[in-house]
Amino acid sequence: MAIKYTTKVIEHFKNPHNIGIIENADACATEGSPACGDEITVYLKINKETDRIEDVKFQSYGCASNIATGSIITDLAKGKTVDEAEAITWKQAAEELGGLPPVKMHCSVLAVDGLRSAIRKYKRDVKGIDYDSSLDVKTITEELRHVLYPPVGADIITLKMVKYIGIDDGAVRVEVSISSDDKFLDPTIDEIVEHVGRMSGVKSVHVENV
Ligand code: FES
Repeated sequence: MAIKYTTKVIEHFKNPHNIGIIENADACATEGSPACGDEITVYLKINKETDRIEDVKFQSYGCASNIATGSIITDLAKGKTVDEAEAITWKQAAEELGGLPPVKMHCSVLAVDGLRSAIRKYKRDVKGIDYDSSLDVKTITEELRHVLYPPVGADIITLKMVKYIGIDDGAVRVEVSISSDDKFLDPTIDEIVEHVGRMSGVKSVHVENV
């Protein structure tokens, strides 16, 4: 069955804004989606006095939804401070596009993750922010809001699929509740490991379906 896209998605896909590379970028990051294997790279030019994003560009190796989301979030991020731009969510991006089909929501997560990752690189490398010390249940919960349950296109925290999060000296344990014969169980666990595993200060991730 053909996937239905909004007019805005199609417009941004056919004529994406802010596509390309920034030479001498202040930060650049590539993120991959465990769900589909696609990638996005985001480049930032930042005024270091004001922490305002002066320019942002992206290259997408993903699908139409990813290109459209990359286009819209780079528009949203331009002119914002890094803190404001880091707060842009994939839900907001999808809403700006007039909605995305549930199976394509992860494409907007990928675009937002690329932007967020570039901002965090800037904050870590230029501003000296120590993300290791901010590892706690709250930051892991926030990260898990970027793990989607594909058939619904909503995140596993909102869907109350996460039952427990524990941390012991960088070893993270996540307990989820998903039917054991659900074909999305393994991909969801892989996504949790991928997302939590790349957080600063995490040494290992164990996911248990309870
Ligand atoms: Fe991979 Fe959309 S299917 S980014």
